[in-house]
Amino acid sequence: MSHTELSHPAETTLVSQSTGSDWLARYSSSLMGVFGTPQRVLVRGAGALVWDADGKEYLDLLGGIAVNALGHAHPFVTSVIASQLATLGHVSNFFTSPTQIALAEKLLAITKAPAGSKVFFANSGTEANEAAFKLARRNSEGPGAKSAKRTKIIALEGAFHGRTMGALALTAKEAYRAPFEPLPGGVVHIPFGDIEALRAAIDETTAAVFLEPIQGEAGVRPLSVEYLRAAREATTAAGALLILDEVQTGIGRTGKWLASEDAGIVPDAVTLAKGLGGGFPVGALVTFGEPTSSLLTAGQHGTTFGGNPVATAAALATLHAIESQGVLANVLAVGARLRAGLSDVGGVTEVRGEGLLVGFDVDADIAPAMVTAALDAGFIINSPGPRTIRLAPPLILTIEQAESFLDALPGIIKAAAALTAASQTAASLTAKDAQ
Ligand SMILES: Cc1ncc(COP(=O)(O)O)c(C=O)c1O
Repeated sequence: MSHTELSHPAETTLVSQSTGSDWLARYSSSLMGVFGTPQRVLVRGAGALVWDADGKEYLDLLGGIAVNALGHAHPFVTSVIASQLATLGHVSNFFTSPTQIALAEKLLAITKAPAGSKVFFANSGTEANEAAFKLARRNSEGPGAKSAKRTKIIALEGAFHGRTMGALALTAKEAYRAPFEPLPGGVVHIPFGDIEALRAAIDETTAAVFLEPIQGEAGVRPLSVEYLRAAREATTAAGALLILDEVQTGIGRTGKWLASEDAGIVPDAVTLAKGLGGGFPVGALVTFGEPTSSLLTAGQHGTTFGGNPVATAAALATLHAIESQGVLANVLAVGARLRAGLSDVGGVTEVRGEGLLVGFDVDADIAPAMVTAALDAGFIINSPGPRTIRLAPPLILTIEQAESFLDALPGIIKAAAALTAASQTAASLTAKDAQ
């Protein structure tokens, strides 16, 4: 049968007469409920804009949770993906491909990795962290012949490293962990940003310390440069690995390739994903220097899809566009404008973050209602906490687009306060009825 005889089955065509509520009814009877009810059914995107099934336009200030580095449907990335898929799409890791090798070299260059450094490709952030977890397990020998094995892995309170079992063991949130215990053992969580607590926790049984330079899921909480340096010093002294999870903060999100650059330290490993493929799933573990890079040996880890030609071509295209189109400078300029503007808005109590990873707190528990009010006003934002909003827009966001959100924000806050008050009144009436 010739391929030209194939036509799209009705189920896969993107253009449809169905409304958002038609789709959501079908969603709830066909998709597992782990994500709750999706906020909207999105059908199309261009740059920092997306449109829903009912034709409404939104400025996407979340970027698929810090993923769509170049926005939606970037013409260059799209054409590179299409032509790579039309040339060679998948080969397995029994084979390699030019794009895989070129991307590994590129990642070693942008992370300023020293000689002997290496890359392992995965398909997501959690998978990159699984690989890092196994790397940490291989750093098992203590300093002396008779010393205890290294079994301890240190992570921080508030940490989010993913949802698969190893990454989940590193993740701090009890609600995510408890239903799945027992998790892989040996992980301890220590207070966030407390250098003394870190020094006290690291000893000769420590295999690794995992840190996010800015905790994204916890509400955009940055670690200080001093903390990162102290972590480097203490892990080096104890022979433990310092592993930086830059899944959310890396690839230009903060206006630098890595958020940890300012600390001037060389970690033992960095994990990357999210923005790396410009929307195409790809993750990576970069190991720094020869000793760390040879901890995982042939057969000790693997993946079918990881590092396939399409994913690595997508990432190469994304990195090339970021580099050649002045995107990092844009991130710094628009991020600074956004943060300065946010500080002037009534009801905003604190603004955090770097580049285009921005968190801000409001003075009441209205953040979830702000997400709803923002959607009504045509903006996609996110609330990682009851008083916290996170923005992680495409890195190509313009000043004008950032300002359109700043202009709308007072109205969004007002609408959210009204929505919250109305739902509290409804809840107290229901409680009275039940008495
Ligand atoms: C810092 C960090 N690590 C790991 C992950 C997990 O990545 P993924 O959802 O691609 O598995 C995330 C996702 O939010 C993250 O923010």
